[in-house]
Amino acid sequence: NMAVEPVNVNEFQELARQVLPKMYYDFYSGGAEDQYTLDENIQAYHRITFRPRVLIDVSRISLSTTILGHHVSAPILIAPTAMHKLAHPEGEVATARAAASCNTIMVLSFGSTCTIEEVASSCDAVRFCQLYIYKRRDLSALVVQRAERNGFKAIVLTVDAPRLGRREADIRNKMVAPQVKNFEGLLPTDVVSDKGSDFQAYAEATLDPSFSWKDIGWLRSITNLPILIKGILTREDAIKAMEVGIAGIIVSNHGARQLDYSPATISVLEEVVHAVQGKVPVLIDGGIRRGTDVFKALALGAQAVLIGRPIIYGLAVKGEYGVRRVTEMLRDELELTMALSGCPSVNDITRSHVMTERDRAR
Ligand code: FNR
Repeated sequence: NMAVEPVNVNEFQELARQVLPKMYYDFYSGGAEDQYTLDENIQAYHRITFRPRVLIDVSRISLSTTILGHHVSAPILIAPTAMHKLAHPEGEVATARAAASCNTIMVLSFGSTCTIEEVASSCDAVRFCQLYIYKRRDLSALVVQRAERNGFKAIVLTVDAPRLGRREADIRNKMVAPQVKNFEGLLPTDVVSDKGSDFQAYAEATLDPSFSWKDIGWLRSITNLPILIKGILTREDAIKAMEVGIAGIIVSNHGARQLDYSPATISVLEEVVHAVQGKVPVLIDGGIRRGTDVFKALALGAQAVLIGRPIIYGLAVKGEYGVRRVTEMLRDELELTMALSGCPSVNDITRSHVMTERDRAR
């Protein structure tokens, strides 16, 4: 019932399912193959409990923090997700305005349905730009240059998609995607058509699966912006990422849309955090649906979290206002969680405030 205001982020998902065409809802909500990881991303949070501390002055709670030196009102950022106009006619511009009004950072997807320039001129805010590497390397370089010219503050290089994961709902629905707006007129017509493109075929035609660690130097050579790597799940790759000079790591399995049976991100966060030893910030996304989830990620060493699907659901149901509500709900839940566990500021959240399965087995 649309007249009922959702009271949590999960309720936005059900409302989104009601308003979206099935093909688009399936595209947004789905994962790869058996969707084992899709379920695990959420279940793994349920297996972590708290060690709350009491009799601490929690009359004032401070959620604010900094990410790469940029102030945010809460450690809750907006993950890059493609094609917001399939959810709402205003698309990424509405999402960007909501992010700005919440004083948080939006990571604009490479596959956006508004251009970099449209998003940049829609409102004033700190924004990051997500990057895929195309076989047409010049097109990826163009995105970096346009992001830099338009005041974006970092590049988020997504590394878990040398090819597209097998999303069976999209295959079944014969998912058709609009063109990548930033490349309108720049790609040959056998790759895109006026009707849009078969999503899977488009990805196969464009993504460069040969891009590897040695090519990060090229990316660093074409921009002065800091580069975060999104899609790290092991200590080995965290160490490599630091060796090639990246500014931050996002622990992510792409919302379970790429390699099925990847671990739940929260279950490998500590491994990555230990490898990084505080040298660069570690962020995380995947399955975060509650303020308690955000708290758990911070306790296990994340500097901030990113939210994927719930933002799209908010956008689909209520546009800019919906995105704002989703962000505020998570922020308000985090604030209450901090009060009830005895943490007046985000810096007070420590490893000793949570108990993982591994802790219990000890
Ligand atoms: C994504 N994700 C993604 N990541 C990326 O780097 N570039 C992209 O264009 C997209 N597009 C995209 C579309 C949709 C519909 C989804 C659901 C996800 C992955 C995204 O950034 C993030 O890693 C996950 O969405 C986080 O998991 P949750 O919060 O959706 O569970």
